[in-house]
Amino acid sequence: MEHTISITSQAERKVTDTKSLPFGKIPTEHMFIAEYKNGQWQNAQVVPFHDLTLSPLALCLHYGQTVFEGMKAFVMEDGRINIFRMDKHYDRFTKSLFRMCMPAVPQKLFNDAIHKLVKLDADWVPREDDGSLYIRTFMIATEDRIGVKISDEYLFMVVCSPAFQYYAQPLRVKIETNFVRAAEGGTGTAKCGGNYGGAFYPTQLAREAGYDQVLWTDSIHNEFIEESGTMNAMFFIDNTLITPMLSGTILDGVTRDSLLAIAREKGMNVEERQISYEELIRAFEAGKRVEAFGAGTAAVVAPIEVIAIGHKEYKCYIEPDAMMYQLQKDLLNIRTGLAPDTHKWNFII
Ligand code: COI
Repeated sequence: MEHTISITSQAERKVTDTKSLPFGKIPTEHMFIAEYKNGQWQNAQVVPFHDLTLSPLALCLHYGQTVFEGMKAFVMEDGRINIFRMDKHYDRFTKSLFRMCMPAVPQKLFNDAIHKLVKLDADWVPREDDGSLYIRTFMIATEDRIGVKISDEYLFMVVCSPAFQYYAQPLRVKIETNFVRAAEGGTGTAKCGGNYGGAFYPTQLAREAGYDQVLWTDSIHNEFIEESGTMNAMFFIDNTLITPMLSGTILDGVTRDSLLAIAREKGMNVEERQISYEELIRAFEAGKRVEAFGAGTAAVVAPIEVIAIGHKEYKCYIEPDAMMYQLQKDLLNIRTGLAPDTHKWNFII
C-alpha cells in the first residue's frame, strides 16, 4: 500500500553549536510520526519536533514493547548527504519488531520517512570531519490498557540529532561475570528498550568501580565475551581480527558487519568465533599485542585502553598505528565518498 507523507515545516530553531552538547541532547527541527491502527499504517507526517501525548495506560509504559534503530547521515566530499546502510538497519529493525510482536513498517515508508526528514533538516548534518547526524527510528506500543497483552496500536517515529564522538576517551572496561545481558532464547539480538534498561545497574556498579563500561560474558559459562555496553566487541590479537560470532544473544551490529567486510577486503585474518576472557589473559600474559575496541553506530570505533579481569587490569594497544584505526578510516572514507562504495552501502539523498 502506498503511503503519502505530509510535510509541515517551520524554521524557528537555528542550528547552534551542537558540538559542545552531549550526544543526543538536541533534536533537529522536525520529526516523522505515523500511527498504526486497525491493522494499518496511517497519518504519516513530517512535522515540527514536539512532545507526545500518551495515555498513562499506554502499553509501552508498562510491558516494554519498544524497539529502536540508530543510523547515521554524513556530508560527503561533494556536499551531498549520505545515509549509511539504511537497508541493513531496516532488516534489523524488522527482525526486532517481529521478536517483540510489533507490526513491520513497509520498507518504502521507512525509507521515505527518513529521506524526507533528513532532507528537510539537512542543515543540521554536521559539516565537521568527526560529525554526523544520528537518526533514531523507533516504535512504541500505544494501546491504552492495563491488562498484559500485545498492543493493537503503535507509533512509528523518526527523530534526529547531530552527533560527534560518543566516547571522548579510550575506554576502561570490566569483564562482567556476575550479571548477564542476554541468555539464549531471550531478546539479546533485538534492539528493544528492555535490553538497555537491564544493563544500567551492572554498568553503574562498574562505573563506581572506575570503569566506563562492562564487557558482558555468556549466560551459561560466564566466560565467553558477548558485547559491550552500546557496542559489539572486537579484538586484534597477533594481527588477527577476532569478534564473537552472531550467536543469538548479541546484536548483529551494522558497524561490526561493515568493519568485518573492510578487514576481509584488506586481506586481514578475520575470525568470528567464541573468545573467552581466559584467551585474553593468555594473550596479555604472553606479551602479545592486543587491541580491543567497541564497534557501533553511535560509538563507531571506540578504543579500549584497559580491560579489568577479576582484580587484574590489562593494558591494550591504542597507539596511532593500531589496526583498528585503519578500519575506522576506511569506513569513514566510504561514508564520505573518498573511497568507492563497492558494497552499495551509501544511500545518497
Ligand atoms: C547505536 O549505536 O545506535 C546504539 O544503539 C547505541 C545507543 C544506544 C546510543
